[in-house]
Amino acid sequence: MNRKTAVITGASGGIGMELAPLFAARGYDLILVARRADRLQKLADDLNKMYAVSAKTIQMDLAQPGAGAAVWQEISAITPDIDVLVNNAGVGDSGDFSDEAPEVIERMLHLNVSTLTSLTRHALQGMLARKHGKILNVASLAGFQPGGPGMAVYYASKSYVLSFSRAIRRELRGSGVTVTTLCPGPTSTGFEETAKAQRTLLFRWTRPMAARDVARAGFEGMQRGRAVVVPGLLNKLLAVSAGMGPAAIALEVNRILLAPRR
Ligand SMILES: NC(=O)c1ccc[n+]([C@@H]2O[C@H](COP(=O)([O-])OP(=O)(O)OC[C@H]3O[C@@H](n4cnc5c(N)ncnc54)[C@H](OP(=O)(O)O)[C@@H]3O)[C@@H](O)[C@H]2O)c1
Repeated sequence: MNRKTAVITGASGGIGMELAPLFAARGYDLILVARRADRLQKLADDLNKMYAVSAKTIQMDLAQPGAGAAVWQEISAITPDIDVLVNNAGVGDSGDFSDEAPEVIERMLHLNVSTLTSLTRHALQGMLARKHGKILNVASLAGFQPGGPGMAVYYASKSYVLSFSRAIRRELRGSGVTVTTLCPGPTSTGFEETAKAQRTLLFRWTRPMAARDVARAGFEGMQRGRAVVVPGLLNKLLAVSAGMGPAAIALEVNRILLAPRR
């Protein structure tokens, strides 16, 4: 029997951890990637038992230079053919750019931008040869914005993911490979804490969506070959309205939403 394999980065928590069982329930074998090996192994064991699929893990820091090629080498050692690549691992960081630690910025760019791009490039080769494959890149509602003062690098990195994914989707038309971009709004995961965003109005005012609902929307959109998936009605409205008004106003609103409050 021809089994399908999906690779999910950032599967040790949040949205990635909720995506994994959706694939397993559809009979996909899985390769789960993140740094926290214990959490990955527990998830893999649970999925192996519950769905009788093969779930393997790769422990790797994807925020290092060259991580895309390094993780691809490990994936290829498990299987030469993957059917789905989910580039989900990502981090944010709050604060004015001039106050952010240079190494935090560099790691964020490696993880959110370079590794995602490199892994996509590596995975595409086999997908194109087989004329079949799906790529799900996790961007953010932030990706539609003209900028995020207070989270400048994160917002820019997610605009990159959205722009890059839309462009290669167009390049790949007719190839059998689809690219879907998932753009969640605030979601209940570990993101808020690692991004130090708990004190921002954005996270205080909005009711975050459940990671499970976001994962399901992304999974279903990817299966249907959709271009962009924005989970939640309010988020959809925000995504559509993002391009309508003057950039200067959006930047002021984002400045207020992203400023830390007591
Ligand atoms: N939550 C939100 O409000 C929100 C909104 C829009 C977009 N997103 C996007 O959704 C995606 C998933 O985030 P989440 O919300 O589920 O956050 P999360 O709960 O913090 O999960 C992040 C995942 O990425 C992995 N990761 C982080 N740094 C890594 C590194 N250096 N190397 C390898 N893996 C790493 C983490 O695993 P380890 O720590 O074990 O490595 C974890 O599995 C991200 O791309 C994020 O930008 C989130």
